[in-house]
Amino acid sequence: MRAGPHDIGPPHDVGAPPDALPEDRRVLARGFGHGKVILLGEHAVVYDQPALAAGLSLGVWADVTDGTGHLTAPDWRLHGRAGDATPLGQALSAILRRLDVADVDVRIGGELPARSGLGSSAAIAMAVARAVAQARGRDPEAALAAATDAEVIFHGTPSGIDLAAAASGQIGLFQRGAGWRPVAVPQSMTLCVGLSGLQRDTHAQVGAVARLRQRTPQVESILVALGEVALGGKRAVEQGDVDELGRLFDVAHGLLAALRVSSLELDTLVHHARAAGAVGAKLTGAGGGGAVIALAPGHERDVLSRWAAAGFTGFLARIGSTRQDAGPLEQGASK
Ligand code: MEV
Repeated sequence: MRAGPHDIGPPHDVGAPPDALPEDRRVLARGFGHGKVILLGEHAVVYDQPALAAGLSLGVWADVTDGTGHLTAPDWRLHGRAGDATPLGQALSAILRRLDVADVDVRIGGELPARSGLGSSAAIAMAVARAVAQARGRDPEAALAAATDAEVIFHGTPSGIDLAAAASGQIGLFQRGAGWRPVAVPQSMTLCVGLSGLQRDTHAQVGAVARLRQRTPQVESILVALGEVALGGKRAVEQGDVDELGRLFDVAHGLLAALRVSSLELDTLVHHARAAGAVGAKLTGAGGGGAVIALAPGHERDVLSRWAAAGFTGFLARIGSTRQDAGPLEQGASK
C-alpha cells in the first residue's frame, strides 16, 4: 500500500526536481505525522461538536537538509518549491514562513493511501512542520501552527481534528476550542479498514454539508446527534465495550448518510462488513469516497475476505495501543 498524495497537487507541474537534492545530503532532522481514522463525529466536528479519532502508526515521514526551499516526494514523483503555485509549494511556503526558515529542503515519504479519509495531507503537514522546526530549533507549538497553515491550504476550513490526531497517534476526543483530549483505553482494538477505491475531496464534502445545513435547518439536529454519538463512543472506548462502539458506528453511518456524504461503494463496504460478522461499520472521514471502518471481533479476516471478494482492498489496524506498534496487521487483496 503506497501513499500517493494527489490531494497536494499535480505531480511535476513545476518541473523535475533539481539535481541539487542528492540522496546523501546530511539529514538535520526527521519529523513524523500519523495517519488517522475518525471513529465518530466527522462533519459534526466542523460545527463545534465533539468527535472521537484515533491515530494510526501508518503515516508520513519528512527529512530536512540544508537547501533552498524544495520539497520532494521521490516515491510519489512529486516536487514542489516554496513560492510556486502548487498546493504542495504553497503549503511548504506557509510552513517556512511561519517558522521563519528559508534555507532547507525537505524529502517526504510514507505509507498512507491517498485521499482515503485517513489523513494523508495532515500527516504530511505535521511531518514537514515538525522536521523543519526541529532542524532550526523552533518549538513544538510553532510547528503545530505551521502545520495548521499548511492544512488550511490543503483543505480550506479544517476543524483541526486531522492535525491533532496526526500529532498524537493515540485515541482522543477533539472539539474546536477545547482541542485534543487523550482518551484512556483499557485495551487496544482491531479495526478493519476498507478502501472504496474512490478518492475523496474533503473540501467539496465539507462544502456540500454546509450548503445542506443552510437550506435545511433540520440538519442541525443530525449534527448534534453525531456529537452525542461521539461522546457515547468515548465512554464505550473507556470501558472497552467494543459491541457498544460498533452499535454507535452503525448509528453514525446512518446519520452521515442522511448528510449525503455516503456513496454506493461506502454503503456496499458497510453492508459486506456487517454480513461478515462486524458488530458495526461506518464511513470514516469526509466521505463521498475514501474509507470505511468496521469492528468485527473474531471475524476480522472474514470481513477482509468478503471485501476482497467484492473487489475492495482492506487492511487491519490496531488502535489505542500504548506502544507505537499499531499498524497494518494484514492487508487484504487489492482491487
Ligand atoms: C475530515 O477528516 C473530517 C471532517 O470532519 C472535516 C474536518 O473536520 O476538518 C469531514
